[in-house]
Amino acid sequence: MAIERTFIAVKPDGVKRGLIGEVLKRFEMRGYKIIGLKMLQVTPEQAAAHYAEHVGKPFYDGLVKFITAAPVVAIALEGEDVVAQARRIMGATDPNKAEIGTIRADFGQAMNRNIVHGSDSVESANRELAIYFKSEELMSGAKNSFDYVIESLL
Ligand code: RTP
Ligand code: MG
Repeated sequence: MAIERTFIAVKPDGVKRGLIGEVLKRFEMRGYKIIGLKMLQVTPEQAAAHYAEHVGKPFYDGLVKFITAAPVVAIALEGEDVVAQARRIMGATDPNKAEIGTIRADFGQAMNRNIVHGSDSVESANRELAIYFKSEELMSGAKNSFDYVIESLL
């Protein structure tokens, strides 16, 4: 499997509820490497670019209003198959349908208060990472810690 990058965000509800560390921990404990990390207030322009695929949907206005209302924590992760694996760790969009043990099942309160965002494909990840990070803000190239653990067992 390929080494990929993905974009994760702790949304305003997660930040407000003190879950930044919890979210980071869940990715770190699986061995994914944090290669970018910052807190920011999402601008209307960033939100429009991020959520362009949802324009016209009934939840779009609320989603943009929510994501721009208070700070988020932007996270760039790197690792093997990390796009799909991070989505597994996050769980289904609706916390009521997410598997127990996932971030959204354990902490999410509703579809529009589901704590985290995660890119849904490698293409989306590259597009979203470019919205929130400059290339020099991503620390890449070092050996992935998960690979190291595996290699040390061989
Ligand atoms: P995300 O982009 O946040 O990682 O979540 P996702 O791929 O699982 O879900 P997506 O379809 O991309 O939706 C983006 C966010 O919009 C809100 N949403 N509300 N029917 C609804 O009320 C509805 N559908 C989606 C959620 O907060 C979702 O995370
Ligand atoms: Mg999505």
